[in-house]
Amino acid sequence: MRKLWRHAQLTTLAGDAPWGRLADGALLTSGERIAWIGRDADLPRHLDVDAEHDLEGALVTPGFVDCHTHLVYGGARDDEFEARLHGASYAEIARQGGGILATVRATRQASDESLFASARRRALALLTEGVTTLEIKSGYGLTLADEARCLRVARRLGRELPLTVVSTYLGAHALPPEFAGCPDDYIAAVCAWLPALHAEGLVDAVDAFCETIGFSRDQTRRVFDAARTLGLPVKLHAEQLSHQNGAALAAQYGALSCDHLEYLDAAGIQAMAAAGTVAVLLPGAFYFLRETQPPPIAALRAAGVPLAVATDHNPGSSPLLSLLLALNLACTLFRLTPEEAVRGATVHAARALGLADRGILAVGRRADFAVWTLDHPRELTYWIGGCRPSRVIAGGQEVNRHALIATGSSLSA
Ligand code: NIG
Ligand code: FE
Repeated sequence: MRKLWRHAQLTTLAGDAPWGRLADGALLTSGERIAWIGRDADLPRHLDVDAEHDLEGALVTPGFVDCHTHLVYGGARDDEFEARLHGASYAEIARQGGGILATVRATRQASDESLFASARRRALALLTEGVTTLEIKSGYGLTLADEARCLRVARRLGRELPLTVVSTYLGAHALPPEFAGCPDDYIAAVCAWLPALHAEGLVDAVDAFCETIGFSRDQTRRVFDAARTLGLPVKLHAEQLSHQNGAALAAQYGALSCDHLEYLDAAGIQAMAAAGTVAVLLPGAFYFLRETQPPPIAALRAAGVPLAVATDHNPGSSPLLSLLLALNLACTLFRLTPEEAVRGATVHAARALGLADRGILAVGRRADFAVWTLDHPRELTYWIGGCRPSRVIAGGQEVNRHALIATGSSLSA
């Protein structure tokens, strides 16, 4: 199926021109890929196409990539939000058995079907804003069976929704109660489970939470060694609440990304730059936890570390289901430029997932794009709410979001 999209203001993000903009552009898709892109006036004559769409000057961007989410879980943590408003801290709540472990209890109790239905609703909220690629981490099961269940839900979302889902094993997210006092034994179990999860095709990458309330550098290293044995790429929740030297360790393993990074130091930045590791900025968690130390953006920029932006959707530190709001927060709180923020949720986010076939609009890339009735792409970072693409195309196919939402509500009722 060859489809021609004409008279678009293309924001290709390709090349060195600001935004890779092409006024009055055209784009030809062939199956899942972009077959031609350029100025409408330069379209080859006598093109053989199955369908032609006139976009009447609308803005077209690459589909968004949300490269860090914890989308599959049971329950919610609005009670902790309220407790924090009364003075409790995120780390205190975690030490008292709440936090991640509260969600672990709810996730273990939830049926496969309810985990799927709630994650599907969340995925559709992101898709509605133009997200066409989504990373989903496990980490709320913390037994082999429950981690596998959550990863299977992620895979099923990728099969049943018009989205690419990348799944990340985050067994080293928190210490489950059955291993209380024995974190090294738990890490041994996390490593022992990985081959079975991988053999079932459930794992694209391996992550860990390197933090005082998570796992140490040495424990993180053991998880990374297990990943390396299987040839799986790694990434890390690093330097979120304190400086642990996790980013430098992850860079030694050629990590795809280090994420959060509020307490990253100069050595970590250099290690990431040398390894080509992407810095994934998560302003939703920074905002929701009322953190005060932003990541060292200027130094990361100066070192040439690619900056990505993601929602970090999870029930504890970032119950955020809007990548567009994450872009606005990245600009207001972290001082990214609008173009940096948009590149951070497209081309650099794709790189954080090891995906070289998307994130820009260019011949041969996936035909994932969103159409917006906006005049300039920086508006994507400017409006706070209310901005939705008029059309979303994933793998060359137009996504019928209303039909998907209607089907889901009857299934999950
Ligand atoms: O990315 N930092 C660790 N993990 C999540 C929070 C998980 C939770 O609180 O449930 C994060 O912020
Ligand atoms: Fe996270």
